[in-house]
Amino acid sequence: MNLLARAGERRLHGPARRNPMGFYHEYKSDPLTLFYENALVYGSVRLRMAHEHVHLLVEPEHIEQVLVTHADRYEKGVSYRSLTHLLGSGLLTSGGELWKRQRALIKPAFSRRHVDTQVSVMVECGQRMRTRLDARAAAGETFDLVPEMMGFAADVVCRAAMGADIDGVLPQIEDDVHDGVAWVMRHLVAPVQLPPEAPTPGNRRFLAARQRLHQVVDQLIDRHRQAEGDARSLMARLLTARDDSGHAMDDAQLRDEVLTFLLAGHETTGGALSWTIYELCRNPAVLERVRAEIDALPVAPDDPDAVRAALPQLAYTGRVIDEAMRLHPPAWAFSRTALEADHFDGFDVQPGAIVAISPFVNHRLPRFWDSPLTFDPDRFTKERNRARKPFRYFPFGWGSHLCVGQHMALTEVRVGLAMLLSRYDIELANGMRARERPEVSNPPDLVKVRLTRREPVARKAPDLQEVAP
Ligand code: HEM
Repeated sequence: MNLLARAGERRLHGPARRNPMGFYHEYKSDPLTLFYENALVYGSVRLRMAHEHVHLLVEPEHIEQVLVTHADRYEKGVSYRSLTHLLGSGLLTSGGELWKRQRALIKPAFSRRHVDTQVSVMVECGQRMRTRLDARAAAGETFDLVPEMMGFAADVVCRAAMGADIDGVLPQIEDDVHDGVAWVMRHLVAPVQLPPEAPTPGNRRFLAARQRLHQVVDQLIDRHRQAEGDARSLMARLLTARDDSGHAMDDAQLRDEVLTFLLAGHETTGGALSWTIYELCRNPAVLERVRAEIDALPVAPDDPDAVRAALPQLAYTGRVIDEAMRLHPPAWAFSRTALEADHFDGFDVQPGAIVAISPFVNHRLPRFWDSPLTFDPDRFTKERNRARKPFRYFPFGWGSHLCVGQHMALTEVRVGLAMLLSRYDIELANGMRARERPEVSNPPDLVKVRLTRREPVARKAPDLQEVAP
């Protein structure tokens, strides 16, 4: 490996930059191209951004060391520090013993069995989405589908997390989460990171949004404590969760966890759904196969019980979602900070070093994928999944921090797609080309479409016994 050795230190190689800001401006304006192009040339690479060095790790053995074999030498990285101001110390931002205890309490609430009980919530949200979209189809409008998909995902995650009784506050929650995330993004890339208490107009707006979010969640916790909440919700489950020593989480911790779900499960899933539809529209042969699979379901995807039973039959649709998340992973990168020195094959990282791992980069490297920029869902057949080596595909992360919401997200995208494609023909606006918008997640910047209502297809009479998994 080509190393820059200085004072006996073995450094990871990377391009030199005389500019005092290093690659900071490139990172700020287009981090995906910066990471991808350097990974193509160097593999794992060190990039200077002002006075910090980012170690972008690409080689599977390097990533495995950070996320698995030496995971205890790292903590969640710089990108999570800015998020802490919004989310407090929920699962995404906490570390050490607190994270371990919370992970054990929270993980069971996201089990397949529990997510299955939330399919009805997803179908109800899908019905509300269809009501909004019916009006747009009737008007023959060309419009941006992304906010609609984000609205569906916000509806699902808010109800799944807090229960059904949030109609009145949902738009405010959506706005406040959106403003909170925008503040986090600005804070993350600011050359000087002022605390949110510094009296600037942006900070004042952020603190007000955060306070409103706290109030809503606190009120809902109170309601749940008085046994008035929806028993299917994550909040209800977490209120009764106990760890091995009988310990329950307190209200402040529960609030941080619920806020974490709202943020982690909103734009990620809405973005995955938007990209999947975009790729389907650009690949008509694939769209036809997905549509055939959905139309072949014995019942229309409207009735929650029928949808739950039928989901395992949407196998090709699942492969399409996997492929959309390969090309456009919502979590385009995540970071760690080294707590102590760590030695790799050919270089070292020092305590405090910033490590970045990018699903976007690894999902597109020609070393790991044939024709990486081609959309081909058949990469994800069972056989090819089994044959794939580790750290080529990891949209939900890897190791002990693997996304707890993975099954929920994949179920939700399948339900959303089935409800959309069974109802509408979707046509991209002429010449429409979506671009990645890498912020906390990576949704498309714009997916302009026109919808036309379809005639309902004739289906076999429902026989849930027959289609049960
Ligand atoms: C397509 C949708 C989603 C994607 C691509 C995604 C991706 C990820 C990734 C890559 C991580 C690991 C980050 C790291 O190691 O630093 C993660 C963690 C996490 N995700 Fe997701 N996520 C999605 C949806 C969700 C949903 C729906 C929820 C909850 C409602 C959720 C909650 C979390 C939480 C709490 C963590 C932290 C886990 C831990 O550190 O123990 N995510 N997610």
